[in-house]
Amino acid sequence: MRQETSMRLGRGVVVAVGLLGCGGAELDSVDAMGSVGQEIVGGVEARPGSHPWIVSLQNNGSHFCGGSLVRIGAREESNIVLTAAHCVADGPPDTVVAGAHQLTRPVAGQVSVRVKRVVSHPNYNSDTTMNDIAVLQLASPIKFNSSLAGGCGQSPQMRPNLTSELASGLAIGPVCLPAAGEQVADNTMATSAGWGLTREGGYDTSDLLMQVGVPTVNAQQLARMYSSQGIHIDSQAMLGAGYAQGGKDSCQGDSGGPLVIKGARGYTLQGVTSFGVGCARPGLPGVYARVSNYIPWIRQQLSLYGS
Ligand code: ARG
Repeated sequence: MRQETSMRLGRGVVVAVGLLGCGGAELDSVDAMGSVGQEIVGGVEARPGSHPWIVSLQNNGSHFCGGSLVRIGAREESNIVLTAAHCVADGPPDTVVAGAHQLTRPVAGQVSVRVKRVVSHPNYNSDTTMNDIAVLQLASPIKFNSSLAGGCGQSPQMRPNLTSELASGLAIGPVCLPAAGEQVADNTMATSAGWGLTREGGYDTSDLLMQVGVPTVNAQQLARMYSSQGIHIDSQAMLGAGYAQGGKDSCQGDSGGPLVIKGARGYTLQGVTSFGVGCARPGLPGVYARVSNYIPWIRQQLSLYGS
């Protein structure tokens, strides 16, 4: 029994689930992406434009999940978003919003597009949350900001000169994909971002984009931690990130969004936010779909539906 998987969150709408809760997103100080340092119930607001690939999945104007834009070949635009299969199990979102920071204050240049097709992983299992990954084909491609041309995973934190080139909240660009089977070392600092709940028992999803720095967790340890909850962890398919003492985590509404790790080329999407038990609880790190396990499948979807 997974508490957080198939719920859809809307502003002011909370699914009554006992284990709903969140210790709040927070940024680790040094290596994660830049933040403006504003604390919001244990969390930190992302610096506007520092996650150019992040998108908000919305229904009737309400955010319910995140997603990430990926590059299709050498194109400077993309109609493909990666998200969690559980986010789209009940159907496609009506809108995908890119270039956003504060959802209630759309900025010029922010882009909203409709979704043409949802392709969930064929072996997604809603009971076990295995293979919790899906591809969204957008109705029209979203153009990347020209200052992000050519690369992937570029953030103002990594290329400080981008800060002046990118207007607040207007950065749109792709995240890097890992190599197939690429392994992430234990205890590597990763950044999870989203507009999800910012506190235990939170009611509304966050208006501001938040981020949290969390270290990756050893697979055996993760499996042991979750077996106490009666939850099976498949280490090929899942990646854990969080602190043993809890306190920092993704939460409801962050699902589908990115867990990135800074690499040589840029920030790489190593995880898609998938599930947890509550949020930020000690001994129960967040669980992410392990993107490197799905590269052949993702590449296939890109060639089928990318334009
Ligand atoms: N499943 C949740 C969602 O739909 C997010 C899960 C993340 N939970 C966690 N404790 N890390 O938004």
